[in-house]
Amino acid sequence: MKDFHGKVAVVTGVASGMGRELALELARQGAKLSLCDYDPAGLEKTAAEVRALGAEVHTKVVNVGEREQILAYADEVAEHYGVVNLVFNNAGIAHHASVEKTSFKDYDRLMDVDFWGVVNSSKAFLPHLIASGDGHITNTSSLFGLIGVGGQSAYNAAKFAVRGFTEALRIEMLASGHNVGVSCVHPGGIKTDICNNATVGEGQDQASFADFFNKHLARTEADAAARTILRGVKKNHGRILIGPDAVALDLLARVTGSGYQRIMSFVDSQQSRFL
Ligand SMILES: NC(=O)c1ccc[n+]([C@@H]2O[C@H](COP(=O)([O-])OP(=O)(O)OC[C@H]3O[C@@H](n4cnc5c(N)ncnc54)[C@H](O)[C@@H]3O)[C@@H](O)[C@H]2O)c1
Repeated sequence: MKDFHGKVAVVTGVASGMGRELALELARQGAKLSLCDYDPAGLEKTAAEVRALGAEVHTKVVNVGEREQILAYADEVAEHYGVVNLVFNNAGIAHHASVEKTSFKDYDRLMDVDFWGVVNSSKAFLPHLIASGDGHITNTSSLFGLIGVGGQSAYNAAKFAVRGFTEALRIEMLASGHNVGVSCVHPGGIKTDICNNATVGEGQDQASFADFFNKHLARTEADAAARTILRGVKKNHGRILIGPDAVALDLLARVTGSGYQRIMSFVDSQQSRFL
């Protein structure tokens, strides 16, 4: 897909961060949008900003972890616009805690949104993307879908799973000859609300965790991240890395094999002193 003008694009998780910036940039580039989020006020705020840019917008309050909701949403978008060309499965949440302090409930919650949300939406929209004859699906994993990180076992599990699911889907689309591109996005630290909204383990201080991330790890602006994603989609890149941290740590893991885990354990022990 060389440009987005006149294309119908769905973005999940648009109330803040990269989803909001994707919606705004797609609007600037002439796309018609369908936006969803489980935060009704945030959804309407972004929709108003997108409308102010002159773009056509359809909105729906959807929890991506609720399969029936997203299946109904996909049919509603297809009926509303008659076609669906692009889907950005961006919605996500974070949780920081050791394996010992992560409850089964925490794992379920993370997997419901970060993994099942992507699978639910991909399966719901795939028939419409195939039918469009010119489709693209973009699933947001993370740098933490490429490397393991202490304190991130739930997030790591969901984001590695998104990567596996998305790479398999891309191979199937390439083999089938359907004109549906597939990209997996791996952002490093991006300046968004992800850690302000994150949960932490029992006895840990949420504010210190968010503060540490915002001050030391979030290096790339969300609008720049959105533009990188859209450039990657136009080139149908299978893997879209965002930020120098993602590029460097992905390289480190590929060069050192499992050796990077010892380096990360040192980082984890230093970081634990602040959290
Ligand atoms: N910010 C980073 O450093 C970073 C790094 C790697 C990957 N990511 C991923 O990027 C994606 C976007 O996150 P962000 O950083 O912009 O965070 P954010 O918190 O600013 O935005 C996430 C959005 O998703 C929405 N959302 C959350 N759960 C939802 C649900 N169940 N149903 C519908 N909407 C839901 C939120 O309301 C919010 O609008 C996420 O998948 C996240 O895991 C972020």
